[in-house]
Amino acid sequence: MAIVKNPLELMMDAYRGGYAIGAFNVNNMEISQAIVSAHAAKKAPVILQLSKGARKYADTNMLMAIIHALAKQYPEVPIIVHQDHGDSFETCKSAIEAGFNSVMIDASHENFENNVRITKEVVDYAHGKNVIVEAEIGQLGGIEEHVSVDEKNARLTDPDEAKKFVAQTKCDTLACAIGTSHGAYKFSSDGKVDVERVIVLTKILPNVPLVMHGSSSVPQEYVKVVNQYGGDLAGARGVDESTISEAVKYGVSKVNIDTDLRLVMTAMIRKVFMENPREFDPRKYLGPARDEIQKMVEHKIDVLNAAGKIRY
Ligand code: G3H
Ligand code: 13P
Ligand code: ZN
Repeated sequence: MAIVKNPLELMMDAYRGGYAIGAFNVNNMEISQAIVSAHAAKKAPVILQLSKGARKYADTNMLMAIIHALAKQYPEVPIIVHQDHGDSFETCKSAIEAGFNSVMIDASHENFENNVRITKEVVDYAHGKNVIVEAEIGQLGGIEEHVSVDEKNARLTDPDEAKKFVAQTKCDTLACAIGTSHGAYKFSSDGKVDVERVIVLTKILPNVPLVMHGSSSVPQEYVKVVNQYGGDLAGARGVDESTISEAVKYGVSKVNIDTDLRLVMTAMIRKVFMENPREFDPRKYLGPARDEIQKMVEHKIDVLNAAGKIRY
C-alpha cells in the first residue's frame, strides 16, 4: 500500500470510521522511523507532514527518500505525505512535484475573498494530479513559520463562513480554529477547546473531514524530564488527550502533532547527556530518543482510536 494512490479514500475512511489519522511532522530520519514503526506496530494509517522549514532544513528530496525507504520497509502501512501549512501556490506545487499526495494551503490570515481565491488555485492544480487539499478558515493562535498570532487575536472558525468557503473552494478537508494553538504553551489566557464548535461544523459540513491543528498534549512527564535535566519549559501546557478523543468522536479526522515529538526528543537527549557527560556517540542519544518517540506515538494512536484501522 505504502504512499497511497487515493488519499481521499483514506481520509473518508477515518471520517466514517470515527477515528483520526495522526499527522506527525517529520524533520529527520529518527523521527520518521519512530512514527512509521509505531503505526506498523499499531496497524494504523499515518500522515507524515513536512513544513516548509522541515523541507529547507533536511531537504525535500532527502525526506522523501527516507519516506520511500520506510514505505518499502513497512508496505502494510498506508501513508499520506502532506505539505504542512503551505504558504503559497508555489510551495504546494513544488510539494506535488516532489511526490506529496496531500497539501495544505494556509491562507487563513488573508481576508475571506483572498483565502478563497488562493485556495481555489491550489485545489484546481492539485485535483488534476490526484492530490488532496486541506485549507483553513478561522485563525489559530501561536507561532507558525510565516505568521505569529497571539491567542487573543485568534479567530475561531465561523460555521456559516466555513460552509461558504468549502462550497466555493472545493477543498477536501478543513482545518478549523477551535481554541488550540501551536507550540508548547497553549491556553495561556485560560482558553479551552471548543468541542461544541466541532459538533456544529460536522453537522453543517457533512462529508468534510475536519483537521485539528495544535493538538500536542505536552505530556507533563516529559516536561518534567526536560526541566529536571537542565531545561526550562516551566508553564508548558497542551490539549487534554480526553478532549482530543472527544473531538475525534465528533468529526475531527486529522490530528496534527509536532510539539510532542520535539518534547520527547529533547527530554531523552537531555537525560542521556546529563547522566553520561562523557557520551558523544550520536547513536547513544538519538537511539533512546527514537525509542521513546515510538512509545509516545503508539499511545497517540490509541487516543485517536486509529489502532487496527488498516484495511487490507
Ligand atoms: O505548525 C507548525 C509546525 O509545528 C511546524 O513547525 O514550521 O517550525 O517546522 P516548523
Ligand atoms: P502542535 O504544536 O500542537 O504539535 O501542532 C502542530 C501542528 O498543528 C502542525 O501543523
Ligand atoms: Zn498547524
